[in-house]
Amino acid sequence: MIPLPEEHVPSWPRTLAGDGPGKASRQIRKAVEADLPEVLRLDREAFPDGPYPYFVLRQFLDALGDHLLVMDDGDRLHGYVLATPPHHASSWILSLIVGHERRGNGVGRELMTEMLGLLRAEGAAEIMLTVDPANETAVMLYHHLGFSPWGPLQEDYLGPGEARLRMRLAS
Ligand SMILES: CC(C)(COP(=O)(O)OP(=O)(O)OC[C@H]1O[C@@H](n2cnc3c(N)ncnc32)[C@H](O)[C@@H]1OP(=O)(O)O)[C@@H](O)C(=O)NCCC(=O)NCCS
Repeated sequence: MIPLPEEHVPSWPRTLAGDGPGKASRQIRKAVEADLPEVLRLDREAFPDGPYPYFVLRQFLDALGDHLLVMDDGDRLHGYVLATPPHHASSWILSLIVGHERRGNGVGRELMTEMLGLLRAEGAAEIMLTVDPANETAVMLYHHLGFSPWGPLQEDYLGPGEARLRMRLAS
């Protein structure tokens, strides 16, 4: 079994240094309703053909609110991660997005590490996700975090021509 990433008991808000000289410090914290327009912006930017609609995000906030984490520099959101709380010790990562201009600076890894720490502290023994197999950056990130492909490629998983690779992290 692959161990989950190093023990990290989360507490929020967590303050991080700015992502460059003279850059404002950043926080990872639970999302609030006022964040939703920014979450929607990130979603539309990353997935213009199929972002979560606002009403879905609004209901995720009520239903999964403790599991919607954002990275915030006090001005804009750099990214967000959304997961399901453990059910029978299993969780799903539903979404991970970093704004275009912030990519490649470790934000995705920070958000995932924080969420994996939360889920682990809540008793998750396995964490699953699906990813577009052509999304090399995301596949590499998940692989580096200890996820492994789980079962064969799911052809048409999200509809015709929308294959997804299922990945799983277990402890
Ligand atoms: C996938 C995504 C969240 C990664 O966020 P990020 O902040 O750019 O990633 P990080 O800087 O934390 O990099 C994490 C890992 O990704 C890999 N990576 C980063 N940029 C990469 C690139 N251009 N090509 C290949 N791998 C890359 C690195 O291996 C890195 O691993 P390391 O930390 O062990 O070195 C971001 O690209 C994104 O939002 N993409 C659009 C939305 C999306 O596809 N979400 C995932 C849906 S399943």
